[in-house]
Amino acid sequence: MKEKIEKLIKLRKEAMLGGGEEKIKSQHDKGKLTARERIVLLVDEGSFSEIDMFVKHRTNDFGLSNQKIAGDGVVTGFARINNRPVALYSQDFTVFGGSLSEAHAEKICKTMDMALKIGIPVIGLNDSGGARIQEGVVSLGGYADIFLRNTLASGVIPQISAILGPCAGGAVYSPAITDFIFMVNNTSQMFVTGPNVVKTVTHEDVSFEDLGGAETHAVKSGVAHFTFETEIEVLENIRKLIDYIPQNWKEKSFEKSFDFNGDFTVAGLEEIIPDNPNKPYDMNEIINLILDDGEFFEVHKNYAQNLIVGFGRIGGLSVGVVANQPSVLAGVLDINSSVKGARFIRFCDAFNIPLLVLEDVPGFMPGTNQEWNGIIRHGSKLLFAFCEATVPKVTVIIRKAYGGAYDVMNSKHIRGDFNFALPSAEIAVMGPKGAVEIIFKREIKDSKDPADRLNKLLDEYIEKFANPYIAAERGFIDDVILPSEIRIKLINAFQLLKNKADSNPRKKHCNIPL
Ligand code: HXC
Repeated sequence: MKEKIEKLIKLRKEAMLGGGEEKIKSQHDKGKLTARERIVLLVDEGSFSEIDMFVKHRTNDFGLSNQKIAGDGVVTGFARINNRPVALYSQDFTVFGGSLSEAHAEKICKTMDMALKIGIPVIGLNDSGGARIQEGVVSLGGYADIFLRNTLASGVIPQISAILGPCAGGAVYSPAITDFIFMVNNTSQMFVTGPNVVKTVTHEDVSFEDLGGAETHAVKSGVAHFTFETEIEVLENIRKLIDYIPQNWKEKSFEKSFDFNGDFTVAGLEEIIPDNPNKPYDMNEIINLILDDGEFFEVHKNYAQNLIVGFGRIGGLSVGVVANQPSVLAGVLDINSSVKGARFIRFCDAFNIPLLVLEDVPGFMPGTNQEWNGIIRHGSKLLFAFCEATVPKVTVIIRKAYGGAYDVMNSKHIRGDFNFALPSAEIAVMGPKGAVEIIFKREIKDSKDPADRLNKLLDEYIEKFANPYIAAERGFIDDVILPSEIRIKLINAFQLLKNKADSNPRKKHCNIPL
């Protein structure tokens, strides 16, 4: 027995080394951690149970028969994060560049299948040269097996991807189907075709980083939800994210213990909102005042910044925040912000995370650029997502709620459960100036002093319509609340709605405008 135990220990030791000391050094020299070092940083100490450590590839072509490394380029298994179970896989770049063989894919699929059965999140740490070239179509099949599982698991268990090295070709579509993508500045890249192919086909000269680096995907494409300077920060922040989301679609929103006997008066909110409705302010300041401990975990921070989305807690309960940002493009809704909002809302709805909407929106962005690129199609995604969502939904109109955007931003009409407004709210078909110039066009033109007439009509319009009380008279607003009351109103609303039950008509699936 002793010898057998020693043999196992030796085999384990070999497997733990992956591609060997030299390759590990080369990985470190590139500023990257190894697959196993990443797992240690990601999960609770001592909680990782590895499976399939001894799996090897089955290829004998291209001299691979004598290069069979235990684990075959991916470490898979189960662990705990903040004491909650998760499934994970971590690609090992030291073994054939982390490339995906048939056996490598089978390991990932096995982990995902188990995660689905148990109902726990899957975290993929990606660092791979793509399909194992020597295996040809077999490795392509392996990718397809993963894509299918990503799709079937979507909305059932949360799926999180970290890109910690190259992720090229069709390989990008597995992370793309998952719920959240994390990237590291300067060491991770995602692209469908690399710079060389780009040069051949479109004659563009572009670097790896410019084409598909973290900043590109965080700011321009919106592919990356989170970017950080180091891998360590990425792994820490995956742990944070896990703290806001449930294990699977059947669980309720994650709740932390909370003392309901405190004083929840909010001081200073009214000072953030300028008296002049055309002046911007930073919605983040309001978010910080509203959420428990002012803690906000922002998603897509650098993309479509005219809409803010992210997670926080209210009364201990995890909520998804969707807020217009008046300091960027006046908080207008455009194509990118609509798509960003819709995707976030659908994640929250799929996983029973209540929605808090903070509204200050002058409408949808005008212009040929937006129209020709499909603001109608993309804007409808946001509308559709809000309409479809059956989780608790609470809106606070902070200032502007104009036009179609009033309807879209979780109005009462599309099943907002509690719709509050601050006294500063302006709920109207359009902004006062535009409205007056249209409905009093002739009167202004015919008057002796058009500018003076315009100002007088504007004052009358603002007095009459730019307030929350007409909507409140109709019951479209449940209550007009003081800024100081906002937190207690929201704590009470979300507590009350905890057991809310609502549903949509039975169907195969919806047909969201894509
Ligand atoms: C087999 C691979 C590999 C691959 C890298 N390696 N990619 N082996 N299949 N796809 C091996 C290298 O031969 C090398 O082995 C080791 O991994 C490290 O690679 P390097 O090139 O030395 O590393 P680096 O300079 O950091 O460059 C990394 C890289 C580059 C940018 C990823 O290796 C690369 O361009 N690889 C090919 C990428 C690619 O085109 N993949 C196929 C994409 S198509 P040795 O033994 O020398 O250390 C695809 C289809 C998926 O993936 C379709 C799904 C639908």
